[in-house]
Order: sequence, then C-alpha cells, then structure tokens
Amino acid sequence: MESPAALAPPAGERSAPETLPTTMRAVAQDRYGPPELLSPMRLPVPTVGPRDVLVRAHAAALHPGDVFTMAGRPFMLRLAFGLRRPGLGVPGRDLAGTVVAVGSRVEDLAPGDEVFGWTARGSLAEYVAAPAHHFVRRPAGASMAQAAALATSGLTALQACRDVAKIRPGQRVLIVGASGGVGHLAVQITKSLGAHVTAVCGAANLDFVRALGADRAIDYAAEDVTEGGEVFDVILDNVETRPLAAMRRILAPDGTLIPNDGTGGGPLLGPLPRILATRVRDLFTRQRLRPFLSLEKRADLVALAELVATGRLMPAVGRVVPLTEAASALSQVATGHTRGKVVVNVGDGSG
Ligand SMILES: NC(=O)c1ccc[n+]([C@@H]2O[C@H](COP(=O)([O-])OP(=O)(O)OC[C@H]3O[C@@H](n4cnc5c(N)ncnc54)[C@H](OP(=O)(O)O)[C@@H]3O)[C@@H](O)[C@H]2O)c1
Repeated sequence: MESPAALAPPAGERSAPETLPTTMRAVAQDRYGPPELLSPMRLPVPTVGPRDVLVRAHAAALHPGDVFTMAGRPFMLRLAFGLRRPGLGVPGRDLAGTVVAVGSRVEDLAPGDEVFGWTARGSLAEYVAAPAHHFVRRPAGASMAQAAALATSGLTALQACRDVAKIRPGQRVLIVGASGGVGHLAVQITKSLGAHVTAVCGAANLDFVRALGADRAIDYAAEDVTEGGEVFDVILDNVETRPLAAMRRILAPDGTLIPNDGTGGGPLLGPLPRILATRVRDLFTRQRLRPFLSLEKRADLVALAELVATGRLMPAVGRVVPLTEAASALSQVATGHTRGKVVVNVGDGSG
C-alpha cells in the first residue's frame, strides 16, 4: 500500500507562485485500442477559460471506464469521445493536484489550493484545465493519491448507498466485488450508515475487506452467496457474474438491488440493453431493481471529502506507478481484479 506522504507536493509550495512551462509531459493514444497504444509525448500546457482552473496534477486514479474509453468500446462511447479516433487522446478522468491558475470568474479556488476532482479532457498529463466546479479541496489526512482515488469510484459508491439504496441503520447489505475501486469505498460508506455488511471478493482480499469494516467476508470461488439462503435488504453487485434471477432470490421482497457492472454486453451498446431490461422489469415487482449512472455532483465531492476528514472513509491505494508505466496500470485495471485503486503518479517533477 502507498504511504500517505508518498505523493505529497514539495514542502512550502502551497502558496508559491510558479512559472508555468509552455509544454508538459503526458501519455496519449492516436487511435482506439488497448493500453499498449499509449505513447509518452509533450503537449501544450492547456489555457484556462473564465470559469476554469489549471491544476498541476500530482496523482491520477484509474477506473474501468478509462479502459473502455481508450478502447472505444462499446462503440456508442465514440459519439462522445470521437467517431474515428479519440478527440484528445489523453486518457484518465480522476486526479488530485495543486491549482496553479484560475479563470477571471472563479471565486472559490485560488492558486496554491490542493484539490481533487475530475476532468473530461484526460488526467494522465502534468497539467489539467477543467471547470472549477469539478474540484473541491483535498481533505486533511488524505494523500494526493488517496484524494485522486475518491472522485468517480467515490461518487458511485456514495450515490449507490445513500441515494439509490437509501441504506438505513441495521439493514443487511451485500456488496459483491467489495475489494475493488467502487466496492471498497461502498463497504466503508455502508458501515458509516450503520448497516451490516457482507462482502464478496477473492480469497486474497478477504482480510482487506474485513479491515475496511465488513462484518462477513465471502470468497466467491469457495461459496456461492446466492445459494446460502441469507436474504439481504440491499445488494450492490459490481460484477454481475450471477444471473439477475439468482440475485433476486436473495433480495428481500421490498429490497433494493443495484446491478452495477458497466462491462460486457454487445460491441455497439455494451451493457445498455441489459440495464434497460432491468429497469423495465423493475416496473413489475415490489423489489427495487435499480441500475444507475453516477453523477458528477460537486456537493457529493464535498460530502466525500467530509467523510474522509471525519475518519469514516479512506480510499485504499493498491498500486502507484509513474506516468511511464500508465499502460501497465491500465492493463491491470482491465483485469477486474484490482485491490482498492490503481494510481498514476503524474507529477514526479522530471519533466
Ligand atoms: N454506475 C456507474 O455509474 C458506475 C461508475 C463507475 C463504475 N461502475 C462499474 O462498477 C464496476 C466495478 O468497478 P470497480 O472500479 O470497483 O472495478 P474493480 O476495481 O475492477 O473491482 C472489481 C471487483 O470485483 C471483484 N470480483 C472479480 N470477479 C468476481 C466474482 N466472480 N465475484 C465477485 N467479485 C468478483 C474483484 O475482487 P478480486 O480482485 O478479489 O477478484 C474486485 O473486488 C465496473 O463494472 C464499473 O464499470 C459503474
């Protein structure tokens, strides 16, 4: 595991003005495909619009969606990212770093602020320009890598547990894929909501999920949770390896099931037909069947920071790699067997 100080910015730099270079190190792809297509390159440092901030990135956290957008599959993703080739070419979404410039209409962030959040223009670059409302201040106690790991996975876990499932104290909650990017945060958030957590993951991660607070941990290779007879009020299924009907058998009559696997499906639409079919089935049962898309709400970034600052949540960073090893990190994320989050140390100062 990464030590919290490993990615801290150089001491004394918080409020020091810095002279911006004209170019920056980044990794980028010139066509859709696997992570091996990534090449190191120098790109112009982006300029800021009136409502943007320019962030000198320290850490960028990866998630499965980064692999899909790199690959341009399912093809419907290309409507947003470029039909023939990826528009910008720099992958990655989540990051943490230091604000180095702000647009004329930005009031709540200033140069020197340490922030975390997201960009739609690629986070595997030394400098990232994005609207100021994509970022909030890094919570005390979280390293840059831990803060970077909060955005997409944290928003998904928070909105699934708090908003979709509306988890209440004492409820019995099953989290399948509990050791991954979303799952390990969902375990902690569910515990903070006062519920009982059963966590499903591989044998190597059983102790990891117990340490996060899971009351019970199940190795999916040794036990099929759908055959155990136990019934749950809420199920967050991050992998969907068992059929919907099997999951519904272990869901309370008025329980909530969140099928949350964004992978699989056909090459054109991916999981979309499966998600729509589940939503239609939801109309004909008392059980709540609720696949959902997480939303990038700034208020929820603030809520995540608050959970961290008050000791109720801390992302686990399973692996940190330098920017030169971003392709290997993305390949690991593509396996679907990540412990916590994989983070790229973007700002190692060498460029
Ligand atoms: N709804 C949304 O808006 C939204 C947003 C973000 C992500 N997602 C989706 O959420 C899913 C999870 O993302 P993630 O970042 O957490 O992925 P991840 O980091 O790759 O985690 C995958 C987890 O699944 C576990 N796993 C693998 N095979 C399993 C099996 N057969 N049974 C039970 N657990 C198994 C892994 O455990 P071991 O390593 O121990 O095998 C690991 O804990 C992805 O499909 C992603 O697309 C949805």
